[in-house]
Amino acid sequence: MLKFPDKFYWGTATSAYQVEGGINNDWFVAGKKYDAGLACDHYHRFEEDFDLAKNMNNNAHRFSIEWARIEPGEGKFDEKEIEHYKKVILALKQRGLEPFVTLYHWTLPIWFTEKGGWLNKDAPKYFERFVEKIVLEYRDLVKFWITLNEPNIYAPHSYLQGSWPPFKRGFGNLGNAMRQLVEAHKLAFDKIHKISPESHVGFVTDNIWYKGILKVFIDYKWNHWFLDKVKDYQDFIGLNYYFTHSIFGFLKLLHLIKVKKENKTDMGFLICPEGIYHVLKDLKKYNKPIYILENGLADAKDGKRVKFIIDHLKWTHKAIEEGVDVRGYFYWSLLDNFEWDKGFGPRFGLIAIDYEDNLRRIPRPSSRIYAEICGNNAINI
Ligand code: BGC
Repeated sequence: MLKFPDKFYWGTATSAYQVEGGINNDWFVAGKKYDAGLACDHYHRFEEDFDLAKNMNNNAHRFSIEWARIEPGEGKFDEKEIEHYKKVILALKQRGLEPFVTLYHWTLPIWFTEKGGWLNKDAPKYFERFVEKIVLEYRDLVKFWITLNEPNIYAPHSYLQGSWPPFKRGFGNLGNAMRQLVEAHKLAFDKIHKISPESHVGFVTDNIWYKGILKVFIDYKWNHWFLDKVKDYQDFIGLNYYFTHSIFGFLKLLHLIKVKKENKTDMGFLICPEGIYHVLKDLKKYNKPIYILENGLADAKDGKRVKFIIDHLKWTHKAIEEGVDVRGYFYWSLLDNFEWDKGFGPRFGLIAIDYEDNLRRIPRPSSRIYAEICGNNAINI
């Protein structure tokens, strides 16, 4: 039995566009491939979903607030939507789930994108205004704020390769977008503390474990660039960890070698539980508490999920024993959901969604094991 520290947060994570349904934002207008439609209709079914999280003995939940709902027109805030998220937060608290609120999880109001998105020179200020509104509304209810989700994944897709909205390309755009995101985070950090000094504020970094030669060349640029820029502007580090890349990973990408099937998720990610340990040890130098705010896999058959979770927790536990201050673990995701440009195929949920039958929620067998882990504050190995 490996025990986790007292007061450890156990939860799951979601993001608004991936689960809520009925959102009119820059992704929705980008064409069929980017349209999440009704998603899981979590917008109307959040209470039922939070009951499921509570049944898994969770004591926390990460979700995001959709900027496009709150501020559908520039400077025009929708009071009805502000009320909606208040109900969401209260529903969490009533169930003993500590809210971890993400302010930006990759989707934007249409007016903001029409102004050039993150490339607009005033973009960080627009974000700050939205953040101010939100924090003034919910400051008495929320302690943990996450400004940005994975700028190091979002920006290359949206501003270098141009594969996600707003489909910009080129290294110049990438550099500008990254700098603007740094500025947006800093402004938001200061604003949140001004309004609510006791808040804990951070952003989420997606750190990949690079092995061998790749570590030397890519690790800093990918894992640490943003972290370094905002190191004086964070109360905690949010970590999303999914997979590893080795030179073999690249050879595999080029179809030059085959990777054994059991090592991969349904999305082809290379499973590497040990990597979370190395990534955590690497983050220790920033001397901040760390919350693992996403870790999970696409696994429709639910055949690998239990081992995946237990193995990652085992390596996390080792990092904790060696002095890394990890304070929470959030599985991605509570529900099957809209996996960005991959659509509804990948199944990340501890709870399956039956898209053919009224979006019925069906807890997968792995959710029972996760409930045991959370309830015991320990893994049984
Ligand atoms: C993102 C999630 C996404 C998950 C699985 C993370 O990088 O934050 O939105 O669904 O990866 O691909």
